[in-house]
Amino acid sequence: MDEQIQQAFDLSGRVAVVTGAGGGIGRQAALTFAGAGATVVIADVLGDRLDETAAALKDTGATVSVVPTDMSRKAEVDALAEAALAHHGRLDVWANVAAILRHNLILDVPEDELDAIISVNLKGVFFGCQAAGRAMVAAGRGSIINIASQGMDHPSPLVGAYALTKAAVAMLTRTVAVELGPQGVRANAVAPGFIPTPMTAYRWNDAEGNVDPERQQAAFDLMSSLVPLRCVGEPLDIALAMLYLASDASKFMTGQVLRPNGGGSMP
Ligand SMILES: NC(=O)c1ccc[n+]([C@@H]2O[C@H](COP(=O)([O-])OP(=O)(O)OC[C@H]3O[C@@H](n4cnc5c(N)ncnc54)[C@H](O)[C@@H]3O)[C@@H](O)[C@H]2O)c1
Repeated sequence: MDEQIQQAFDLSGRVAVVTGAGGGIGRQAALTFAGAGATVVIADVLGDRLDETAAALKDTGATVSVVPTDMSRKAEVDALAEAALAHHGRLDVWANVAAILRHNLILDVPEDELDAIISVNLKGVFFGCQAAGRAMVAAGRGSIINIASQGMDHPSPLVGAYALTKAAVAMLTRTVAVELGPQGVRANAVAPGFIPTPMTAYRWNDAEGNVDPERQQAAFDLMSSLVPLRCVGEPLDIALAMLYLASDASKFMTGQVLRPNGGGSMP
């Protein structure tokens, strides 16, 4: 491969924080950043799944720090940034991946569910941008990557509360880009289409959490039929878009929303 191209995507010597790293996309993002040479600091509220991600990273020889974090708690998010700086001396990339999905019609969303969705999906990303932004402004460089969703592009029943947080994340991303760009800090978002992960597995898991292959195939067929590319995505499709945004390959890009979604929305 041409050296200039390789260098553009190289994260060697960089430190990347990934939240929601116990999940499907966060785990793959951590593995992909590490595969590009980064030291990764992984965070999630679920300790078991975080440990599984850490084990997968260690198997590849990656340098990894594990920081259990509830993104809805500002003090824990600040502590995550402090841990990255304390352990590794720098903070180059911060990916806000953690989120929760709940299903209810707007008329039926209980207040505590609305609070929970906003706390993780919006306030958690906000706190992440603040903590990362402060460290990156001090260093005069850095890339923040927020995960939105195709759900921000068009209204769908049952996921209204989730979708509004994702639309807000896109606006937050643009504002961070405007405020921190002059200080060398970029902020972009990725809005994935349908990706099989623990978040979407309710479509095919039985009550015990085991995969029902027939329901899984039916879900894949349905979701594929809705997009021009006639397929579902995979976590690596999202992680590679994130690698682009994390690396110097995207050094002229800020305030944008990338949409790896099979063509499911084209606003
Ligand atoms: N899978 C899809 O089809 C899809 C589509 C569009 C957007 N997304 C977005 O992609 C991101 C990753 O989703 P995924 O599909 O990998 O889901 P996932 O459920 O597999 O992963 C999400 C992770 O976030 C963690 N998390 C939840 N609350 C947290 C908190 N308070 N603090 C820290 N961590 C917390 C969970 O424990 C989980 O490990 C999310 O932002 C999601 O909204 C997913």
